Amino acid sequence: MIDTHCHLFSVYYDDLDDVIKRMGNNIMIVSGTNDDENLEVIKLCDKYANVYGTLGIHPTELSKITDDSFKIIEENILNPKIVGIGEIGLDYYWEKENKDLQKEIFIKQIALARKYNKSIVVHSRDALDDTYEIIKKYGTGLRVDIHCFSSSLEQAIRFIKLGCKLGVGGVLTFKNNVKLKNVIANIDLDSIMLETDSPYLTPEPYRGKRNEPYNVLYVAQKIAEIKGIDVEKVLEITTNNAISQFDLKREI
Ligand code: NI
Repeated sequence: MIDTHCHLFSVYYDDLDDVIKRMGNNIMIVSGTNDDENLEVIKLCDKYANVYGTLGIHPTELSKITDDSFKIIEENILNPKIVGIGEIGLDYYWEKENKDLQKEIFIKQIALARKYNKSIVVHSRDALDDTYEIIKKYGTGLRVDIHCFSSSLEQAIRFIKLGCKLGVGGVLTFKNNVKLKNVIANIDLDSIMLETDSPYLTPEPYRGKRNEPYNVLYVAQKIAEIKGIDVEKVLEITTNNAISQFDLKREI
């Protein structure tokens, strides 16, 4: 199995060796959100064989942009373990005052992904329509992961028609989340990738505790339950989706 989206940074984990060890040979993709994290992503990729990374500037981190921000991304983008640009996107929940700047930085990073033929990992909060328009205009043909998708079936179908994959995480397991369960019941497994967004959004039965990549298994189990299929089938298909989405070369 592959956790396609997590934030395994020292500020959240003082036991990272153990957390990664619990994943065995399974793969994790760590996403940076600012300069410091992007540099940490590169170190993690060097240190652990089964850790891959994406580099990006998150829409809530724009105040931390420096002259080096784009340089750090571009200088490391050809590292074979850096498999995408992310996490990037729009966040109108936390940041309402700088929408134009958010769009500009999002578009700039999409251009970078295109230049180097990398995938993008997209964060979108209270901003799905603008996200859709930008991906449609600038991201056509790119491999796009709408990470932590948690909207309606209509929105899911719209993004899938653009060729996007939907990252599905712990919120699917929350008892009252009827909307996302309905999405999963009605879309093809080919459009789904598993993620945890660790340390956040811990799935049931561990909701409220710190999240870690191994818990991606509980997301897979919930998908299997909703679709009435074996969890092995969910793991097989979503793993293959992630391998092609992120162009993972390593034998797993
Ligand atoms: Ni995230």
